[in-house]
Amino acid sequence: MSVQPPLLRVEDLRVQFPTEDGIVHAVDGITYQVLHGKTLGIVGESGSGKTVASLTTLGLTRRMGARISGRILFGGRDLTRLPEDELRRIRGNEIAMIFQDPLSSLHPLYKVGDQLAEAVRAHREVPKAKARARAVELLGLVGIPDPRGRVDGYPHEFSGGMRQRAMIAMALANEPKLLIADEPTTALDVTVQAQILALLERLQRELGMAIVIITHDLGVVAEMADDVAVMYAGRIVETASAELVFSGPEHPYTWGLLGSIPTLAGPREEQLMPIPGTPPSLISRPSGCHFHPRCPYAQPEHSRIDPRLEPVPKEPTHFVACLLEAPARQRLWAALRAGHTPAEAIAETGLSPAPQLQDAAQLPPDAEGLPEGATP
Ligand SMILES: Nc1ncnc2c1ncn2[C@@H]1O[C@H](COP(=O)(O)OP(=O)(O)OP(=O)(O)O)[C@@H](O)[C@H]1O
Ligand code: SF4
Ligand SMILES: [Mg+2]
Repeated sequence: MSVQPPLLRVEDLRVQFPTEDGIVHAVDGITYQVLHGKTLGIVGESGSGKTVASLTTLGLTRRMGARISGRILFGGRDLTRLPEDELRRIRGNEIAMIFQDPLSSLHPLYKVGDQLAEAVRAHREVPKAKARARAVELLGLVGIPDPRGRVDGYPHEFSGGMRQRAMIAMALANEPKLLIADEPTTALDVTVQAQILALLERLQRELGMAIVIITHDLGVVAEMADDVAVMYAGRIVETASAELVFSGPEHPYTWGLLGSIPTLAGPREEQLMPIPGTPPSLISRPSGCHFHPRCPYAQPEHSRIDPRLEPVPKEPTHFVACLLEAPARQRLWAALRAGHTPAEAIAETGLSPAPQLQDAAQLPPDAEGLPEGATP
C-alpha cells in the first residue's frame, strides 16, 4: 500500500530579519508537515514565530527583506525557490490564509461581495455575474444570513463574527487545498469563537481541505487539531498528535500552556494562570535551552546546552526538546496533573529547584515565582 505524501512539508525553515538592533531569529529551524484533509495546530505565545512561518509559506516575507533558508514542499515544488509569479498563482488559490490582521483581508471601502468576486476572478476567468453569484454562494456557505442582501454590504456593516465569516469566505473563494487560519477567533467573544471553530470544521469536512490553525490557546487546538506543534522563541519545542500532546505532554512550556486553559488544568483554581515571565528577545536569545530563564525545572547545565528536538522513548511520533530524562519529565507531569505546584512536583521528583524558584523563597510573597526582570 502506498503512503500518500504530506500536502505540505516544511523542512528546517529559518527566517531572519536583519534590523538596526541585530538579526531577529524569527523562525529558527522548524520542521513540520500537514497531511491532506487534516488539521495542524501551531501554538505558542506572542512573538514565537507562528505568523512569520506561515507568511513565509505564502512567500510574503520576501518583501520584508527576510533571509530564508530550508524547504517548503507543496505539490512537489519548493515554495522558497518559486518565482513570484508562480507563487501568486498558488496564493489565494491552492493555499489560502485568514490573516491575523483583518485589515489585510477586507478593504473597508469596497463592498464585501465585490471583494469576494474579485478573489474569485483573480484566479479564474469567470464573467462578473458568475463571480457575484459565487460571492452570494460563499456568504451562504459560511453561514451569513440573507447572503443575497448582504452581498452589497460594506465591512463596517458586518459584526465582528460576521466579518470573520466573510474573511473565511474570501479564503475559500477558490476551494484551497490548504487553509492557514492565523488566530481566527482571538478578537471574538467565546460564543462566536465556538461558532467560527465549528464552521471551520464543517467546511473542512465538506471541502476536504487541510487546515493550519495558529493560536495562543491550547483550548482551540484541543477543539480542532489532529496534530500539534508547540513553538517557543522561533522553534518547535514539542510536536505530536493532539492525542499524545494532551494525554502526555513532555515539555515544561507545554505544561505551562496547559495550565492556562481551564478545562485541562488540575483542580486548583490558582493553577489557571499564564506562564510567569515574558518571551525572550529573538535578537539575543538566552543561552542553552531558550526556555531556561522561565523554566521551574531548569538544571544548571540547561543554561549551557541547547536541547535538540528528539523522539520521546517508546513514542516515535512524539518529539520534544528538553534535557530532562523522560522518566523525570513524566513524574513531574504526573505530579502537576494531580494538582501539585511546580515546587512540590520538583520536591517529589528529587530534582534541584531552578534558580528562580530558589530565589523566590527570599522574595516578598507578591513577587513569588516570577523570574528576574519580570513584572508581576
Ligand atoms: N518584518 C519584520 N522585521 C523584523 N522583525 C519581525 C518582522 N516581522 C516579525 N518580526 C519579529 O519576528 C518575531 C516573530 O513574530 P511573529 O509575528 O511570527 O510572532 P507570532 O508568534 O505570530 O506572535 P503573535 O502571537 O503575537 O501573533 C517577533 O519577534 C517579531 O517582532
Ligand atoms: S531543558 Fe531544562 S530549561 Fe529547558 S525546558 Fe527542559 S527542563 Fe526546562
Ligand atoms: Mg502572529
